[in-house]
Amino acid sequence: MREVRLRPYTADDAARFDAMPQEPEGVDFFGYRRTNAFAARYARDGFLGEDHGGLAVDVDGAGYVGDVQWFALHHGPKGVARALNIGIELLPEHRGRGYGTAAQRLVAEYLFATTTIERLEAGTDLENVAEQRALTKAGFVREGVLRHAWFRAGAWHDQVLFSRLRGDPSPA
Ligand SMILES: CC(C)(COP(=O)(O)OP(=O)(O)OC[C@H]1O[C@@H](n2cnc3c(N)ncnc32)[C@H](O)[C@@H]1OP(=O)(O)O)[C@@H](O)C(=O)NCCC(=O)NCCS
Repeated sequence: MREVRLRPYTADDAARFDAMPQEPEGVDFFGYRRTNAFAARYARDGFLGEDHGGLAVDVDGAGYVGDVQWFALHHGPKGVARALNIGIELLPEHRGRGYGTAAQRLVAEYLFATTTIERLEAGTDLENVAEQRALTKAGFVREGVLRHAWFRAGAWHDQVLFSRLRGDPSPA
């Protein structure tokens, strides 16, 4: 497989994302976004804020293939029970080639190396078999189902929750 890397976003990435057409299918998924949303976020913190971050996924010979992101959440008192929830989206033409598995391994390694976080989480639709397989292969453990945990495309969807703890075995 080609080498997969994570890298910080650039101002050019942000301008390119803002210029992308917003298709009706995208609206079906989560809704329209502001047309300067990426430039504004890039100007604020380069997409690497304390409680919310993201990196571009690059593949040798193919360039930019998608994104990984994370945000902080708390299962108890703030400052005591903080976790990071990760997400990923690859461009459709780059799916099914192992890049999603590799990128989620890399983002876990990156977050464990650069923060003191103990627990990473990831949630996905119950029907999203590819993401569940990719997370498992990236060292995440399935915890259970959150019923009607998120709203998209006009309906509530069940979400499967996965986690990876700092001390969990690294995937082979
Ligand atoms: C989900 C996603 C990140 C997975 O990454 P990927 O690079 O496409 O997946 P990989 O090539 O690493 O494959 C991971 C596993 O899923 C399987 N898989 C891939 N596409 C599949 C599909 N459409 N249906 C079922 N299984 C699939 C692979 O066979 C592999 O399992 P295996 O090792 O047992 O054969 C990617 O497809 C994507 O970005 N999808 C759209 C956004 C999304 O669903 N994000 C997830 C969080 S909401």
